[in-house]
Amino acid sequence: MTKTPLSHPRAVFLKRRPHGEPVSADFELRNIPMPVAAAGEVVTRTLFLSIDPYMRGRLREEQTYAVAIQPGEIMTGETVGVVTESQHPGFAVGDIALGARGWASHLCTNGDRLTKIQPGAAPYSAYLGILGMPGATAFAGVTEICQPKPGETFVVSAASGAVGSVAGQLAKRAGARVVGIAGGADKCLWVQDTLGFDACVDHRSLDLRAELQATCPNGIDCYFENVGGYIQSTVFDLLNPFARVAMCGMVSQYNETTFPPGPNLGFVVGKRVLIQGFIVSDKPQRFTDWRAMAAPLVADGTLVYREDVIEGLENAPEALTGILTGRNFGKLLIRVSHEA
Ligand SMILES: NC(=O)c1ccc[n+]([C@@H]2O[C@H](COP(=O)([O-])OP(=O)(O)OC[C@H]3O[C@@H](n4cnc5c(N)ncnc54)[C@H](OP(=O)(O)O)[C@@H]3O)[C@@H](O)[C@H]2O)c1
Repeated sequence: MTKTPLSHPRAVFLKRRPHGEPVSADFELRNIPMPVAAAGEVVTRTLFLSIDPYMRGRLREEQTYAVAIQPGEIMTGETVGVVTESQHPGFAVGDIALGARGWASHLCTNGDRLTKIQPGAAPYSAYLGILGMPGATAFAGVTEICQPKPGETFVVSAASGAVGSVAGQLAKRAGARVVGIAGGADKCLWVQDTLGFDACVDHRSLDLRAELQATCPNGIDCYFENVGGYIQSTVFDLLNPFARVAMCGMVSQYNETTFPPGPNLGFVVGKRVLIQGFIVSDKPQRFTDWRAMAAPLVADGTLVYREDVIEGLENAPEALTGILTGRNFGKLLIRVSHEA
């Protein structure tokens, strides 16, 4: 990217869609005209711009849960800025505002979309991290989905990151035993010593599975998923019955251009899909409730069914082989004997 004098308003534009890992040549820094506020609008000079993993998704051609950025457009990203011009009654010059979006030194935004930040309460940058979107993300995943309880084991990947660090601390406050997964000894040390997690496993270690198993001897009750890939499959293998998984993100896959065979659970996040396992016998009342409801519907033909009956107990093994390869057509039964 070419450098322009710092005093001139400038912005970073998407030049072309990245293939795999984004490189700086995919972007272009250009001078822009100084924005001018129309009625209801506010111009901010950017103090902080948040860089977040979701931005990689915006660079894809295909629509995800949010609108894709087109080549030639300014990159998106949340900012905190100081108001330099206001045509909105809620903002005056010098106010600090959260919520203008764009990789730009100056941004013009409808004032209704901005939040005024009171000086002194916290560093302005915190409103893009722990007090902002990442913090709120951790809060949602921990309190609404994972719901860790005292004594349970809570695991979070990307544990030293913006979301993971908060998620682990919230789980710790809820009384769980908290285990982070992070990349490298320095991150793990910080996660344990500064954040106060009970343990942290380095995912770059040679045997993640063995280390995680040793660190979570009672299995895993809650997993806050930030990373995906082999870390996900390793954690999934250790999940306990009735574990809760908050599928927050899968950053290890955002640059992928092809995916390995098998389910790519990335869609779970984008489409807000809830995946929950269950065993029918968990609630025995289900059986009596269902029979009461279904019996009259079977009797009057409203509910239709088909049976595939094989004669003779000796054919049971073959029948089992058949049901596992789709040879049955309908409910597979063995007629062991005929009614007298
Ligand atoms: N669902 C939502 O509403 C929502 C909102 C915000 C964020 N998110 C998701 O939350 C996750 C964390 O976001 P964040 O903003 O807090 O980022 P972050 O954790 O501060 O930074 C990303 C971290 O991910 C890890 N990582 C990156 N590439 C990796 C790879 N190939 N393999 C393993 N680990 C890798 C790295 O940590 P290590 O070096 O420790 O591995 C990196 O520091 C992301 O998946 C993001 O998309 C979701």
